[in-house]
Amino acid sequence: MAVILDGKKLREKVLSQLKLKLDKFDSKPALVVILAGENPASKIYVNNKKKTAENLGINSIVINYPSNVSEKELLTKIEELNNDKNITAILVQLPLPEHISKENVINAISPQKDVDGFTPYNFGRLFSGEEPLVYPCTPKGVLIMLDEYGIKLEGKHVVVIGRSNIVGRPLAQMLLNRNATVTICHSKTENLAKITKTADIVISAVGKNIIEGEMLKSGCVVIDVGIFKDESGKTRGDVDFESVSQVASHISPVPGGVGPMTIASLMLNTVELFEKNSL
Ligand code: GUN
Repeated sequence: MAVILDGKKLREKVLSQLKLKLDKFDSKPALVVILAGENPASKIYVNNKKKTAENLGINSIVINYPSNVSEKELLTKIEELNNDKNITAILVQLPLPEHISKENVINAISPQKDVDGFTPYNFGRLFSGEEPLVYPCTPKGVLIMLDEYGIKLEGKHVVVIGRSNIVGRPLAQMLLNRNATVTICHSKTENLAKITKTADIVISAVGKNIIEGEMLKSGCVVIDVGIFKDESGKTRGDVDFESVSQVASHISPVPGGVGPMTIASLMLNTVELFEKNSL
């Protein structure tokens, strides 16, 4: 039976260390989250982010817009926040309503306040092997988790499934920077199981139940980044926990795995930007 990678416990550890640090600051960071539209999952995520920030003593401001908000209005608000010295960090919750260009909105965020690490400056630095100001939250949370459980990356074959800008692409770069051998798979990959069979670590970020125990090498590590509701309304991940936990050495559950680590990383990033910008 595999070791369970406990994201909830690790989140508490990370946040309690961060709180000790924050308590010593004379002033507090401020995180602004922009939420446009009515996506129910986004609302839950944003609420969790706000609650976690408040518990830590980070000022947290959520700005809600209706789904018909114009791109111009978002860009004007971001410009205002960029110029506001009291604001440390800006997060635009994705997905945005379809009529809005995600690129235009993200590009408008000042790289110094880009708490997701999604702006061209921070993404560019990450992809060229330089240090961005902060690393994207979900990949950062995955790496903190692997490190905490002593899972080595150097020289290991890591198969990342998914090529989104939020998870797959930045995560692959971060693994490469840690000297892993990285394969990126996606929805058009042929014979996925043949590739996952050769992996020491499989990280799935697809949002569909695709990973079964028979697709894996015995003793591999499995990280489940996917989260969605199945037909019966149950929260599920990409990984079939029952069959995979018989084969893997370590497995992250859904819920309670990577999700809590993403929020912990967001708090870390907010404090990192605060420290960098007050130098
Ligand atoms: N939507 C899902 N995950 C994320 C994330 O990490 N950052 C932002 N901004 N939106 C998301």
